[in-house]
Amino acid sequence: MPDVTVSITFDLISPFKNNQNYQFFEGVVNISATATNEKKVYSVVGQEELGAFPLLTKEEAGQAIEKAKQAQKYWEEEEVYKRAEILHAWADKLLENQAQIGDMIMKEVGKNKSSAWKEVARTADLIRYTAEEGCRIHGDLLRGDSFKGGSSNKIAMAERAPRGVILAISPFNYPVNLAASKIAPALISGNAVIFKPASQGTLSGKLMIDALLETELPADVVHCVTGKGSEIGDYLVTHPDISMITFTGSTEVGQSISEKAKMIPVVLELGGKDPAIVLKNADLDLAASQIVSGAFSYSGQRCTAIKRVLVDNAVADELTSKIKKKVDELTVGNPEEEAAVTPLIDEKAADFVQGLIDDALENGASLVTGNQREENLIYPTLLDNVTPGMKVAYEEPFGPVLPIIRVSDEADFVELANESEYGLQASIFTNNVQTAMNIGSKLNVGSVQLNAKTERGPDHFPFIGSKNSGLGAQGIRRSIESMTRDKLFIMNV
Ligand code: G3P
Repeated sequence: MPDVTVSITFDLISPFKNNQNYQFFEGVVNISATATNEKKVYSVVGQEELGAFPLLTKEEAGQAIEKAKQAQKYWEEEEVYKRAEILHAWADKLLENQAQIGDMIMKEVGKNKSSAWKEVARTADLIRYTAEEGCRIHGDLLRGDSFKGGSSNKIAMAERAPRGVILAISPFNYPVNLAASKIAPALISGNAVIFKPASQGTLSGKLMIDALLETELPADVVHCVTGKGSEIGDYLVTHPDISMITFTGSTEVGQSISEKAKMIPVVLELGGKDPAIVLKNADLDLAASQIVSGAFSYSGQRCTAIKRVLVDNAVADELTSKIKKKVDELTVGNPEEEAAVTPLIDEKAADFVQGLIDDALENGASLVTGNQREENLIYPTLLDNVTPGMKVAYEEPFGPVLPIIRVSDEADFVELANESEYGLQASIFTNNVQTAMNIGSKLNVGSVQLNAKTERGPDHFPFIGSKNSGLGAQGIRRSIESMTRDKLFIMNV
């Protein structure tokens, strides 16, 4: 088909319409890029059509990167306080639109209403903190004569310079908060952003970007590039004008990105199998409460969810009974009715979780409660007497199933916890801080929580995963640092 010069206006039913940063192209484009080249999005509950997003081609994605690259040259020249003001304005807009964005999150990813609305508020707080933190990223001044043989005539001024164009790839489970946790640090430090949301979560992410585009952010500094990962994913990850990649998602995809990125620095927040280690001197009521919250919030669809309980056999019966009581009190059903446990993101996810439950029961685990399914809704399920060989003991369910593994010897806790391919976080429940520190110091994880559930927040804490849980560090300041690089100006006076 001959190249033609046309101006195409997509007549989309999605929130993309009339958006200065959505790719309405003037120029040579493939005429097949029509409104039919789009993907519709349906609600997790009820399959209500929520809207659609265009499936960009590689050419269109490439044009977005080129525009961002050009815009970034001016954006990095913008005063930092001005960049901070734009971020504060973004936070204001998000709160103004909290109901619209919160309800979209609720429908698009099946998160209960209050949690979805809270995600918007949490994101505004994250953006504001990022704006302030970005104004306090200072460099160093080094004298040459502090090194033997060096000269006092040589003075280095080291600053943190923006890397350029940041590719931010966010997951479905926090379509706004985790996206902004990448975009805001990138912007405050003078980078441009190519934002690639998860398909299920794109409409929420786009409403977040629309709020940003209502500020004085200059055109083209941020582009939301939507489409099939299978079609544009590798193109984006290997594009020579991408200066850094920040990804949250599955370990499998993260490893693929890491391999393909070559010289492009990456930060990866991946999967987890966070253990709750319960010693016999623990406060079992506190432990049960934190474990249930940590394991079943948002139906376990959190990378930091508690995904296994390692409990001293001496207190296992009592703890299991307390956990069961709380699990049975969890509301189950519709996110619009504030249910604690709601349908999983899709049928594939629900099938996987059910498979783990079936495997455990077939191999001798005891069903304490649950193992009930209605389409993609899996009732919260508690399994006792799980052994390390069962899949549910080591696979990441990303669903509402919790295995209890009984431990007879305290010396086994560390070995069992570290056996996992993952190393995101761990919780230790005990009344002896020294014991907790002794065990925690041996755990190959990013963070150890004492007497509390595993979780990423508060968002300014460094957030790290070891082994297959991640690469590099997130958390506001760590994210700013990963999106900037040292640059020296050396005076030879
Ligand atoms: O699953 C992503 C991870 O960021 C979870 O965050 O705050 O629920 O621990 P949080």
